[in-house]
Amino acid sequence: MAKYNLKVNGKNHLIDVDPSTPMLWVLRDHLNLQGTKYGCGVAMCGACTVHLNGSAVRSCQLPVSAVGKQAITTIEGLSANATHPVQKAWIEHDVAQCGYCQAGQIMSATSLLKDNPHPSDEDIDGYMSGNICRCGTYLRIKEAIKTAAKASKTQPQKK
Ligand code: FES
Ligand code: FES
Repeated sequence: MAKYNLKVNGKNHLIDVDPSTPMLWVLRDHLNLQGTKYGCGVAMCGACTVHLNGSAVRSCQLPVSAVGKQAITTIEGLSANATHPVQKAWIEHDVAQCGYCQAGQIMSATSLLKDNPHPSDEDIDGYMSGNICRCGTYLRIKEAIKTAAKASKTQPQKK
């Protein structure tokens, strides 16, 4: 076991875990942040996607020992009251079906738009291809990403 001082959603958390513990389980089991989901455990589905210093990573494959002082953001910390343009677009397009994959989808979409604020259809398809949705919400996800991109163009986003 080892002690880690992790910065998650803007707050510091001291935890004592085995260094090989994936961040997914630190978030869910130690910090009770259960919006981040377990799907495959092998970086193939995207359900566990969170941000590491603002970029999407698969938390099932991120050992706690590799995080250091880098900031982790989960779906719970993306915005206050689901006010991020991506979350608003998700609601507008009624994207979710069962919802299981959607936290990961949203965390990937926000990371995409940070790096590429006006993605083409191909950009969206390419970036989001690692996020699997068993309910097949892909078309609504794509439309919501386009809506969020337009909204960000007209309303500069606060950090
Ligand atoms: S649970 Fe991490 S990618 Fe599937
Ligand atoms: S909404 Fe059900 S798995 Fe994506």
